[in-house]
Amino acid sequence: MDIVDYNQALPRLEGSFTKTAFFETIGSTNDVVAEWARQGVKGMCLAAAGEQTQGRGRAGRKWQSPAGSCLAFSLQLDSSPYIREESNVLGLAALSAGLAICEALESSYGLKPQIKWPNDILLNGKKVCGILPEISWIGDQLQSLIVGIGVNVTPNAIPPNEVLNFPATCIEEVLGEHVDQSKLFFSIVAQMIKRIVRGGLIEEAEKRLAYKDQPVDLIVDGSDQSVTVLGLAADGGLRTQLSGGEGRVFYMGEIQLRPPA
Ligand code: BTN
Repeated sequence: MDIVDYNQALPRLEGSFTKTAFFETIGSTNDVVAEWARQGVKGMCLAAAGEQTQGRGRAGRKWQSPAGSCLAFSLQLDSSPYIREESNVLGLAALSAGLAICEALESSYGLKPQIKWPNDILLNGKKVCGILPEISWIGDQLQSLIVGIGVNVTPNAIPPNEVLNFPATCIEEVLGEHVDQSKLFFSIVAQMIKRIVRGGLIEEAEKRLAYKDQPVDLIVDGSDQSVTVLGLAADGGLRTQLSGGEGRVFYMGEIQLRPPA
């Protein structure tokens, strides 16, 4: 089994982080970083795992991370670039991570990934990566911003059909060849660090937005709405046109996007 050699990649990244750790098996890397934040660890830090036993996705879903099949890691980020007047912190953090992942897959493997707003990356229309941004507050002060990333690398990472709620793929399936997981990990994290200081987030993310100018279904608080995707708002919201013709911007929350059945 080809387990990602985080111990090889992490030292090359250590200068960028106040704390890093690799676990062969852990519950959830998001929980590790959240615990560090509670203990007062400040600045950018990173926890990675070979296998997660309690991996979490959005909306309370489980995220499977079998050993050797995927990348599973979480970063604590400086929240200041994402705090704007509208404070769509989670949405902007997910978008920034998503764009960095696209940029890494494009530059290292020549792939054409797309961002399925708000937190998935698609290859050939199928999900290859999920992003779980989480924040904690003390009063009205943001204590920590954590972005967890799960990337399907080998076919073992793809969950069985009965638990899939969207078609999934993995990088090796799309490339048709073995992928060096340490190289992939390094490339994604390096792009994430660059992305924080680079401008053009909304413009670059919009170029890679899946379903642009197409009709989709948005499931908002359990009810289904048909909209046409127009693009991204300046604060990272999804710009849409409702069936009656009027425009509306949606934000991350309990919202899911589906191509029409
Ligand atoms: C989703 O698709 O809903 C988001 C999935 C995020 C999975 C990653 S794997 C690393 C980190 N730790 C977790 O428990 N979840 C995220």
